[in-house]
Amino acid sequence: RIVYVNGEYLPEEEAKVSVFDRGFLFADGVYEVTTVLGGKLVDFAGHAKRLWRSMGELEMTPPCTEEELLAIHRELIARNGLEEGMIYLQVTRGAADRDFAFPPEGTAPTLVLFHQEKVIAESPAAEKGIRVISIPDARWGRRDIKTVQLLYPSMGKMMAKKAGVDDAWMVEEGMVTEGTSNNAYIVKGGVIVTRQLGTEILHGITRAAVLRFAREAQMTVEERPFTVQEAQAADEAFITSASAFVMPVVEIDGARLGTGTPGPVATRLREIYIEEMR
Ligand code: PDD
Repeated sequence: RIVYVNGEYLPEEEAKVSVFDRGFLFADGVYEVTTVLGGKLVDFAGHAKRLWRSMGELEMTPPCTEEELLAIHRELIARNGLEEGMIYLQVTRGAADRDFAFPPEGTAPTLVLFHQEKVIAESPAAEKGIRVISIPDARWGRRDIKTVQLLYPSMGKMMAKKAGVDDAWMVEEGMVTEGTSNNAYIVKGGVIVTRQLGTEILHGITRAAVLRFAREAQMTVEERPFTVQEAQAADEAFITSASAFVMPVVEIDGARLGTGTPGPVATRLREIYIEEMR
């Protein structure tokens, strides 16, 4: 695999980052995951916009321009012959002697990109749907910033695995926030319900596109919080993310939704999304 690090394209074994990198020492970094479908980036502009917002909120210096970043993505896809999968990108505040205060101005940010091959459009999981458990949301309060502090989501994924299911939905003050690495939705009586944007959740790029397509298809969308009980009584549920697109959820905390198979709204939205993004 050829990866990108600070201006160079290198075999992954040769790519190196300093032990003093603030991403490593303080999780002082932000990231994006952009899907590649048929060799093309899906909604690069959306991901770039969110990345610049994340960097702005943390007062980080962008490592390059948006055009340069797009060129790096395309070069990485070309060098690796990537047809379908993800491009992961991470920007950190760079390497500096360990200090809680931000490093001096002029410290070069670290920019790393690599790809992962993955079958997304024809994913077998989408045929069956996934099962989730609910867990408390113990993350920090600025989940709208896409930082690399992913320890709690990673622990949440392990709690799900130990419970024999696929993922966890996080709950704060009785309301579902989102999945470990995806946005959460329920459908009741044809109405799609998903939490409104705020600092409590990541503003999913897939979420924005899917809600737009749903409204264009005359579906009703309500942006508000919902409880686990409401979700368990829903007709269907699903999640969205760059790496899962629209993925049906068929069970929540052991309660089967509807017939326990992917629902019609999730199935239709998945089809529309793939059609539109190809
Ligand atoms: N995760 N919520 C959280 C907490 C996420 O980490 C993600 C994305 C999403 C969905 O956002 P988007 O539609 O822009 O991918 C929601 C990525 C895929 C990841 O960490 O791998």
